[in-house]
Amino acid sequence: MASQDSESNAVSQVGGDRLIMVSNRLPVSLERTEDNDWRAHPAAGGLVSALDPVMRRRGGVWVGWPGIADETTDTLRRVLDERRHAEGDYRLEPVALSAEDIAGFYEGFSNEVIWPLFHNRFTACRFDPGYWQVYQRVNREFAHRISEVAHAGDFIWVHDYHLVNVAAALRELGVYNRSSFFQHIPFPTADIFCNLPWWREIVRGLLSYDFIGVQTVTDRSNFLDVLTTMFDRVETEASASGIDIEIGDDGLARHQRRLRIGTVPISIDYAHIEKVAASEESLACAARFRESWGDRTVVIGVDRLDYTKGLPEKFEAFRELLRRHPELRTHVTLQQHVVPSRQQVPEYIEQKQEIERRVGEVNGEFTEPGWVPIHYIFHRMDQPELMAHYQVADIALVTPLKDGMNLVAKEFCAAKRDGNGVLILSEFAGAAAELGEHALLVNPHDVVSTAECIHAACRMPVAERRRRMQAMRKIIRAHNAFDWVEEFLRAAGAAA
Ligand code: UDP
Ligand code: G6P
Repeated sequence: MASQDSESNAVSQVGGDRLIMVSNRLPVSLERTEDNDWRAHPAAGGLVSALDPVMRRRGGVWVGWPGIADETTDTLRRVLDERRHAEGDYRLEPVALSAEDIAGFYEGFSNEVIWPLFHNRFTACRFDPGYWQVYQRVNREFAHRISEVAHAGDFIWVHDYHLVNVAAALRELGVYNRSSFFQHIPFPTADIFCNLPWWREIVRGLLSYDFIGVQTVTDRSNFLDVLTTMFDRVETEASASGIDIEIGDDGLARHQRRLRIGTVPISIDYAHIEKVAASEESLACAARFRESWGDRTVVIGVDRLDYTKGLPEKFEAFRELLRRHPELRTHVTLQQHVVPSRQQVPEYIEQKQEIERRVGEVNGEFTEPGWVPIHYIFHRMDQPELMAHYQVADIALVTPLKDGMNLVAKEFCAAKRDGNGVLILSEFAGAAAELGEHALLVNPHDVVSTAECIHAACRMPVAERRRRMQAMRKIIRAHNAFDWVEEFLRAAGAAA
């Protein structure tokens, strides 16, 4: 694990001593209660899971939106200060968004345009020019908020697809701190990306950062392909911490033309996950779950409600398993946890209906007295409960159709302290690049092969399960969230 000293050194390399994290989501979401009080709850998703431990350890300022519409910055700041989870000593700086901002910037451009496009769901995109206008305006508002909190020398680290234009907007405001960007989601191939009516503007936005980090080598080469599509002269030079890019003189005068791109896969706070899994609370929870499952094989799925997670395909594969291997009926259960997400976006409403219909079909076909094949639960768990489920499960079925990384895959391994578990992993998840040799890799569209893979996992000898799991645990332990930050800052520093 990286020491705090070496992380600070990495920040000094980029010329500052304070980290300004910027993401659309803050780690805390606020809600007004019926009696006009406030409720704060942890925000969902891998970005927040990975960044929160990092900020708790190293401090700094996290600029972002606390998930509520039409409140003033002062109100949000006051409530966040009051309701803040006790352990974190970093500061939260809220960006206030109106209902109109949320509709155009967050639900619209971010989640109905970039999200589906970057996950190869071209047909789900709504290329609404109004969304693009609001996206640019809200990016400028984020930049404005950053300009109010940033001092000269602070290192500004912007996260994810909601905020591509922030660096360019900062320059327009006269903020010249070094700024870097990390893309948590995949970067699509040029032929998909260039369908976006504003693809050139998005590229220009990205080129305003000094350093861009992506999850995989494929994401990096897709981005480089897009650059060569857009510019006549693109020169690249590989170094230990990434690829230096120099763009020729073709009208980009306003923007910088030298930057670096690096492959810096995100990770988890491995030690913390292990610790939570070993806590009394989690162990007591696990004991209760184990008792309720008896000696059944438990296959677990944990996914945000999202069409990229391949949930209908997963249920189809499970149905195929029960059809092809009737001897497994009553002996194996799929426990599928689905975390509520983006419930105002039409595609997500449809996806929920589709998931529930599929679960109903499989359960309708196979349920027997005392056994329901798929336990579907639509909720969000806290960490001790989630770790308890991971520990009790025999097999994790992580089968997104496309995913930047997928931290659930890594957390499952970290929580498996006894080393006895099988990870079935989609070849289209970023995590496959690191864990693919030891996980059972599947193409989630191929439901027959996935079914056979679950069958193989059910039959896998314990010695092989342990060998594979120990190998994956070793990889994740050696590259945890703190190593990720250090690697990112070092690469960004070298770019500077
Ligand atoms: N998660 C959680 N509670 C739940 C289910 C999931 O806190 O009930 C967390 C999980 O621990 C993981 C994150 O949500 O860190 C999901 O991240 P992932 O990278 O797998 O997918 P994303 O949601 O970011 O697409
Ligand atoms: C993914 C994205 C994050 C996002 C998270 C949850 O992990 O990469 O940027 O925060 O999903 O989605 P939400 O729309 O609720 O922020």
